Amino acid sequence: MTDKELVELAIKAKENAYNPYSGFKVGAALLTEDGTLYTGCNIESVSFTPTICAERVAVSKAISEGHRKIVKIAIASDLESDFIYPCGVCRQVLCEFMPSEGHIIVSKPNGDYKIHTLKEVFPFGFSNYK
Ligand code: THU
Repeated sequence: MTDKELVELAIKAKENAYNPYSGFKVGAALLTEDGTLYTGCNIESVSFTPTICAERVAVSKAISEGHRKIVKIAIASDLESDFIYPCGVCRQVLCEFMPSEGHIIVSKPNGDYKIHTLKEVFPFGFSNYK
């Protein structure tokens, strides 16, 4: 699968966002080491703290199905002015299952995207990645 296709899947996954409190939709699409695809969207809670980001929903789906290595993740939102970057908590969770050379693909709603390594967006992280 191409990076462009992964971004398109993240854009599509965004439409399932459950976001009644923020109004902000996020979608994510990741590939595991063997090429398996998982998508996610943000899921909010009226008590706020349990809210989970799209990236961590996709990671949870992959890990709970037995995968342990994520090689790339694309992220999408409705922000037109800027690429959407993962929050700090998601960066920490990604570094549990992604090598520092793994790709974080940030996008805009029109499909434009940029590729970063995890190391670029999470330098000097606290990591146990083998
Ligand atoms: N959100 C994500 O799903 N991913 C991000 O990278 C940033 C923030 C969600 C959490 C919350 O539901 C909404 O966006 C506003 O913060």
